[in-house]
Amino acid sequence: MNQADINSFDFESRINRRGTSCHKWDFDKRLTGREGLLPFWVADMDFRVAPVIEEALEKRLEHGIFGYTARPDSLDEALIGWFFRRHRWNIKTTQILETPGIVPFIHMFLQEFTSPGDSVIIQEPVYYPFRKAIMNNGRNAVVNHLIRDDNGLWAMDLDGLSRLIDESGAKTLIFCSPHNPVGRVWREQELLNLADLCRAKAVTVVSDEIHADLVHPGYRHIPWLSLPEERLPRSLALVSATKTFNIPGLTTAFAIVPDSDFRHSCQSMLTALGLGEGSSSPLSYAAAEAAWREGEPWLNALLGQIGRNDALLRERLTGELPGVLPGELEGSYLEWLHMDYPGNLWEKLLDEGIWLSRGIDFGRGGETYMRMNIACPSSQLEEGIDMMVRALSGFRSP
Ligand SMILES: Cc1ncc(COP(=O)(O)O)c(C=O)c1O
Repeated sequence: MNQADINSFDFESRINRRGTSCHKWDFDKRLTGREGLLPFWVADMDFRVAPVIEEALEKRLEHGIFGYTARPDSLDEALIGWFFRRHRWNIKTTQILETPGIVPFIHMFLQEFTSPGDSVIIQEPVYYPFRKAIMNNGRNAVVNHLIRDDNGLWAMDLDGLSRLIDESGAKTLIFCSPHNPVGRVWREQELLNLADLCRAKAVTVVSDEIHADLVHPGYRHIPWLSLPEERLPRSLALVSATKTFNIPGLTTAFAIVPDSDFRHSCQSMLTALGLGEGSSSPLSYAAAEAAWREGEPWLNALLGQIGRNDALLRERLTGELPGVLPGELEGSYLEWLHMDYPGNLWEKLLDEGIWLSRGIDFGRGGETYMRMNIACPSSQLEEGIDMMVRALSGFRSP
């Protein structure tokens, strides 16, 4: 491959994902009762992966033996290199723990570091598996609701959080940075304010940064653990290459835990579950390493495509559906659309053939929202917008 081929990527071909047991495309009948829907819900992308990832996988497949495989040191080097280059974050090899996934880690963490009935804080609307992890483990989800600031931007209510910590006695916060679904990339001052509060009240922060790389021009993701150490409460961060590079089916995920006592406790937790020696497959390791070593040009091109899709969506909504208002997309490829229409809007959209995520599933505050995944070819996005227009043009939002 010459340099020009390596840096030109196809984000416009529509690849048929049906028939691959694809969560997003193949389960519409089971999950919605309808068939043939155009999906914009679950957060993976309808783009082919970076050629460097395919090449790494092909090379690994050619070998033909897929025996027990431990995480290679070269993968840790690739991870460290990536987070330093992209985020100016210095991670040390010793701080890296491997986990079978971010959501499984949160479940394990709650079992190990909290007790049944304990309160655990989330900031809804937020990625709903946070609430599920708390409930699945018999803990009590307490919510510090995000609020809209004077500029219409979603913000953390730190006064509310302070009161909530005092009232509930919660000692754990599961934090989403950047935030899914509202698309915020938290500013340094917001993070520092949160850190100061959590440190003062001895609240442990689990910072889920899976969307760290999906940040749009004008914004910068600040890793939680890159804040000054003396400002931070007990903390860990969760990272992976799977969201950025569209390889969530090739699971790998990592907890970064700088504090050695805390890290040893996390390591013991993993060991006690039989997960101490590496929990992913040789293909997953190969994909993640290739992504972090050589995936940067593809990611930069991807962000261009998401930016163009965002502009397309905004332009068409302004002209054709002014009742549907997207928030500022600072990070991620998930649009948080304000859609205040009467009746069962989600069903109405399904009837027209478009499948969005229901805002209410992300918690209170999401009642009048839908989440739309725009990581797809632009013709597919156009088709989805056409469906929304057909579904809603007869209705007037209040
Ligand atoms: C905030 C957030 N955390 C975690 C995940 C999933 O992580 P994993 O597949 O490693 O469990 C997602 C996927 O959408 C997500 O948005």
